[in-house]
Amino acid sequence: MTHVVEGQALTQDYVISAGMFGKPKLLRAVKGANFAVEQGKTLAIVGESGSGKSTLARIIALIDPATGGTLKIDGQPVAIGKGRVPRALRSKVQMVFQNPYGSLNPRQKVGDVLMEPLLLNTDMPASERHDRAEAMLKRVGLGPEHFNRYPHMFSGGQRQRIAIARAIMLNPKLLVLARSEKSPARQANRSGVARRRVESRISRTVFRSITRLRSCGRRGRAAPAACGPCRRAPR
Ligand SMILES: Nc1ncnc2c1ncn2[C@@H]1O[C@H](COP(=O)(O)OP(=O)(O)OP(=O)(O)O)[C@@H](O)[C@H]1O
Ligand SMILES: [Mg+2]
Repeated sequence: MTHVVEGQALTQDYVISAGMFGKPKLLRAVKGANFAVEQGKTLAIVGESGSGKSTLARIIALIDPATGGTLKIDGQPVAIGKGRVPRALRSKVQMVFQNPYGSLNPRQKVGDVLMEPLLLNTDMPASERHDRAEAMLKRVGLGPEHFNRYPHMFSGGQRQRIAIARAIMLNPKLLVLARSEKSPARQANRSGVARRRVESRISRTVFRSITRLRSCGRRGRAAPAACGPCRRAPR
């Protein structure tokens, strides 16, 4: 069976500068992560702060190249650390940041937010882009009356749904859900409810980066974060 995402021995090293006279140090943020996720399944990565969850999420979302190991998206190998990722492969993976305040452009109307991925990645005519964006608003529990509103005119949960809607406009094979470093725990929990509500309406492979097991959905698996700098077992 072809897995939607498969990682083998994924490693991420950062070079930490030690000032003008010190010797630079190597920090291994992710050490030999192995995982494989089937279509329609959720994998939650659980671990303490600093154990490498966000780093791994960024590798899988094709934002940062890993320094070692192999990554396959939908059976297709990603050339780690070499050149640009092809557009067709990139559109198969989308990342949703949990902090919708930071991830939505405050000057962009929601309809434009949703149409943008289609504009950049397809040759779809404007009328079809508009129809698709309206249909997506409906799919995430919003309506056509929201099309011309700006992000600040929505509640936190609605903004979260808009961020998810944007991420699934291109019908990606894999969604990477990352917990925000900055949002307070209460906001994270509230957004988590909104995300789970939307996730339950879509059937998609999901990769979650969370710190606590209880934040994870009922279905799916949880895996400890891959032995980063913090080696303690997840609580
Ligand atoms: N760009 C970077 N340069 C140097 N070190 C980094 C960089 N990004 C992350 N790190 C380090 O890598 C380690 C893993 O960081 P990461 O953000 O992946 O942890 P995390 O598991 O997501 O933690 P949290 O639960 O607090 O969000 C940390 O020690 C961090 O300081
Ligand atoms: Mg993190």
